[in-house]
Order: sequence, then structure tokens, then C-alpha cells
Amino acid sequence: HRIAVLHGPNLNALGRRDAHHYGTETLSCLESYIACVAHDVCLHCTFFHSNSEAELVSFVQDAPLLYEALIINAGAFTHYSYALRDALELARIPAVEVHLSDIYAREAFRHTSVIQAVCCMQISGKGKEGYREALAFLAEHLNSEA
Ligand code: DQA
Repeated sequence: HRIAVLHGPNLNALGRRDAHHYGTETLSCLESYIACVAHDVCLHCTFFHSNSEAELVSFVQDAPLLYEALIINAGAFTHYSYALRDALELARIPAVEVHLSDIYAREAFRHTSVIQAVCCMQISGKGKEGYREALAFLAEHLNSEA
């Protein structure tokens, strides 16, 4: 099964962001970890990062042509991008929302996810293990469909 793993704004700066929330690994380390775990559960990942809302929306619009599911860490867009929310709704492929940090233990503006309702699962505060959980969920979900 082919899936796409999307990272939104400022996640390209992992490794330089607050280690307390995000750890010390870079995005490319995180992506290697995800690819490795995905391989174990027979998923093939394509990675996409953008700081731009428009690029993320366009990627999600086209995603159903190429991928069967998405994992998305939309960064701060999580909290206010109705455009990304609408794109995920339109895509109609399963999407798992992942956050490295616990968004509910942080500032109030992070407690709301406008994409949660159009994702089939939300994982928050488990660091990179959250991606393992997302992959396990999607592997199970896609294999039960096939
Ligand atoms: C984040 C949480 C968001 O609130 C924040 O804006 C990010 C990263 C996380 O992975 O914990 O950029 O999505």
C-alpha cells in the first residue's frame, strides 16, 4: 500500500525547535525512522514537506490519485486552516493526524484541531512513536479493506 506522509510549517526546522516539545532529531531523521517502520508493516511512504498552506492543499487534492492514505502533521495549520480541512474532506482517503508534542498540554490555541473531524485518528504527544502508531493503524485499516 502506498501512503503519503505530510509535514507542515516549521517542521523542516526540527532539530532546532524547542527540544522539550519536539526532541532533537531532524526531519530527515524522523522520515528515515518512518520509512523504516512503514517497511516493516508493508507500507510504502512518500514524504512531502511544505511551509506553504497552498502547497499542502494542492498535495492533498491530488493525493487520492497516487496514495491510499495519508499521515499528516500539519504544524500550526492544524489549528486554523479550514482550507486544509476542506482538502482532506474532499480527498476522502483515510488520514491520520499526528503531533509530536501534546497539543492539549500547551497553549489554548493548540487545543483545537480544525482537521480532527476529517481525520480518522488523532495522535498527540507521543513523539516519533506516534508515527509508528499511525502506520500500524493504517496497515491494519488498508489490509482489512483489501
Ligand atoms: C505540532 C504542534 C503544533 O501546535 C505546532 O504548531 C507544530 C508542531 C507537533 O508536532 O507537536 O508546529 O504539530
